[in-house]
Amino acid sequence: MRMVDIIEKKRDGLQLTKEEIRWFITEYTADRIPDYQVSALAMAIYFQDMDSSERAELTIAMAESGDQIDLSSIEGIKVDKHSTGGVGDKTTIALVPLVAAAGVPVAKMSGRGLGHTGGTIDKLEAIPNFSCDMDTKDFLEQVQTKGLAVAGQTGNLTPADKQLYGLRDVTGTVNSMALIASSIMSKKIASGSDAIVLDVKTGSGAFMKSLEDSTALAKAMVDIGANVGRKTMAVISDMNQPLGVGVGNAIEIKEAIDVLKGEGPEDVLELCLVLGSHMVYLADKASSVDDARKQLEDVIANGKAVEMMKVFVESQGGDPAVIDDPSLFPQATYEIDVPAIEEGYVYEIATDKIGVAAMQLGAGRATKEDKIDLAVGLKLKKKIGDKVEIGDTLVTLLANREEVEDIKELVQASYHLQTEQPEKAKLIYKEIYPEQG
Ligand code: URA
Repeated sequence: MRMVDIIEKKRDGLQLTKEEIRWFITEYTADRIPDYQVSALAMAIYFQDMDSSERAELTIAMAESGDQIDLSSIEGIKVDKHSTGGVGDKTTIALVPLVAAAGVPVAKMSGRGLGHTGGTIDKLEAIPNFSCDMDTKDFLEQVQTKGLAVAGQTGNLTPADKQLYGLRDVTGTVNSMALIASSIMSKKIASGSDAIVLDVKTGSGAFMKSLEDSTALAKAMVDIGANVGRKTMAVISDMNQPLGVGVGNAIEIKEAIDVLKGEGPEDVLELCLVLGSHMVYLADKASSVDDARKQLEDVIANGKAVEMMKVFVESQGGDPAVIDDPSLFPQATYEIDVPAIEEGYVYEIATDKIGVAAMQLGAGRATKEDKIDLAVGLKLKKKIGDKVEIGDTLVTLLANREEVEDIKELVQASYHLQTEQPEKAKLIYKEIYPEQG
């Protein structure tokens, strides 16, 4: 095969065969195709798109380009969850013990992150001595004996995606639905689960800002899941304001624990119940999604969910005392209130700016080498629909430096007020299932 023929075929809007897709991924991963040819193909895909079968082939080829986790030694249907990312999104941390408490084995591979706050692994490290470093054998053993484990991505998972994403990032080809959907799904498939629940965010703090784009991405991923034989569904959830009230690392773990105790903010709890009930249902542990939700509400009410969090923390070397004593988390030196400078009702929060404020406080990293400050972050005191008087606290900053004038101004500029009380913000927009037939 010749790469130039594949590029020309896609440039002319024709369908690539399974053999062509597999060949270019294998050859590219082996460094036998130069970046300039793969860039040209990515641009052709950007303009001409890929159909369902091409997207599925690309996903499988990327999933098979490196190590794949074999979860078959764990009994039952293994369900994974993926979020396209947002500000204050701590659902994974609550969902892992919540769903495990309902009897679903959870074997989750997670990442650190570049961005406003750390990724799930960074956040979990706010628990003293907690570690996600484990080899595959220990990971599988922990799921078998304890029912849950979260491990950092080790080994050589989806190298083709890593290489291709790096290239897309600098060639203006990130925003292709076919390439985004296959990139995300290839990592999920390589992580070995049988079923996948996707949380696709929409709004000012999301990767996809419009409902239309979020819906298209959700459909593309659900379609790939169906075509590669994984039960997959997606929930489209709101990111027009941070989820919950805490944005940071330790603060998000505390909020996740509150949810497991039945004390967390309403939106985080609701999203966990919606995503979790689909996970339990896809794992065949409930007769319906409603039944699954009831099971999750029960494990929160009877304390099993928070008990499972203790098991989780202890199994990964952490100090479970933090669950009842939040003062054991890393603490910021200063708590600085950001006052409102106008009055009205909050109708919009520029969520991406709140994320930037978290990053400026030190909660996230811009490059892989940056060190995260686990103690800092923001506590939102006002959310969409709330009444604000001049001088009211909008946000409390948890900071390790006193000079935060620029961050205060950024937070003030993120809040948009109006005189009329707006409608309550929507949390769940849609649920997307595979098309029948
Ligand atoms: N996240 C991914 O993992 N891949 C993309 O292509 C975009 C976002």
